[in-house]
Amino acid sequence: MINQERLWNRLALLSEIGKVESGGVTRLSFTPEERRAKDLVASFMIEAGLSVREDAVGNLIGRKEGMRSDAPVVLVGSHVDSVFHGGNFDGPLGVLSGIEALQVMNEQGIETEHPIEVVAFTDEEGARFSFGMIGSRGIAGTLTGENLLSQDKQHVSIAEAMTAYGLDPNEISKAARKAEDVKAYVELHIEQGKVLEGQNLSTGIVTGIAGPLWVKFILDGEVGHAGATPMAIRRDALTAAAKIIVAIETLASKNGSTVGTVGQVGVKPGGINIIPGRAEFSLDLRDINEAVRDEVEKAIREQAQQICDAQGVKLEIELLQRVAPAPCSDLVKDAAAAAFEKLGLETSYLPSGAGHDGMQFMNLCPMGMLFIRSKDGISHDPAEWSSKEDCTDGANVLFHTVLELALQKTNAGVGQK
Ligand code: HGY
Ligand code: MN
Ligand code: MN
Repeated sequence: MINQERLWNRLALLSEIGKVESGGVTRLSFTPEERRAKDLVASFMIEAGLSVREDAVGNLIGRKEGMRSDAPVVLVGSHVDSVFHGGNFDGPLGVLSGIEALQVMNEQGIETEHPIEVVAFTDEEGARFSFGMIGSRGIAGTLTGENLLSQDKQHVSIAEAMTAYGLDPNEISKAARKAEDVKAYVELHIEQGKVLEGQNLSTGIVTGIAGPLWVKFILDGEVGHAGATPMAIRRDALTAAAKIIVAIETLASKNGSTVGTVGQVGVKPGGINIIPGRAEFSLDLRDINEAVRDEVEKAIREQAQQICDAQGVKLEIELLQRVAPAPCSDLVKDAAAAAFEKLGLETSYLPSGAGHDGMQFMNLCPMGMLFIRSKDGISHDPAEWSSKEDCTDGANVLFHTVLELALQKTNAGVGQK
């Protein structure tokens, strides 16, 4: 069983890094806060007896060797970057539980056939550049030079931020893994929803991960004097945007599985007595079924164009990221079910509405996830909370799931290859 106090203390130590006065943590990718967080996590990996390195896209990796050095690796991971004013569990739980599991294996002299690596992925959230899962895309070999052109609010690109951080943007392909080198990927994460809480269960097995589509709407109308411009001749960018945002809510609510969110809105020039000439807003559209998400996206684009045409407003829609929904593999789900059985925990299956690094591995290896209960379903907020007991249940399930995947060698003998 894992060491509950050690895991809980490490979660507390990590939550001190990037703490924000108004509450929560802000640890954005390639910032000093993320650097400090990775340095602390690296020290835990060393305490756990793992070999530690950072790859070409800044993923922090702790490795436990297997009995067969040429055996494909079992990857365990999550992230230590956060959203703005985020919580203490989204990401850190999976990284620290992975380290804890390997530390206990080392302490108990448990050997496995396959090597196991715990990864703290670079920039899962995408909070800084509106483009996320940089580290897991790097490992999947799908990160491109064009992706690195995405910029933050200060117009710093990912490539520039990587260079300042000490990485070479031209070397990102070196982080890529081959399919034959990876046996499976498993991640422990908070649910960030209310399903497990509603079932009064501490942990569950994820069936699949909904895919986030992120786009930016840019509307250009005509600036005008608020007093001297009659309503009938206005080309108001903000009222057109408002009608589109309401249409998004209506269209996303129709089928019961899709979710649509407008999280960012901007108006220019922004004067109290000036008709807005430009309005910009983001859309985060998700569904566990890609065809359904595509249908809703098409309906939103069509209605947005009609609204803008009717108001003489120019519409541009910029794609920020399109991530396909990802079903979890039977190999990992079955290993997790065996772990629940071993621990005498009730098994529950549920989808993930939130996106996670594992979705990047659909063409790399069998992927799966474990969830623990989130209090009131709150996440991406300082009030994000999971109990010590639930974190322990989750870490124990992860421990046994990883052992199952890495093939524990009960009769580990010298010279066995
Ligand atoms: O946005 C998400 O779903 C995840 O928290 N990055
Ligand atoms: Mn997360
Ligand atoms: Mn998150």
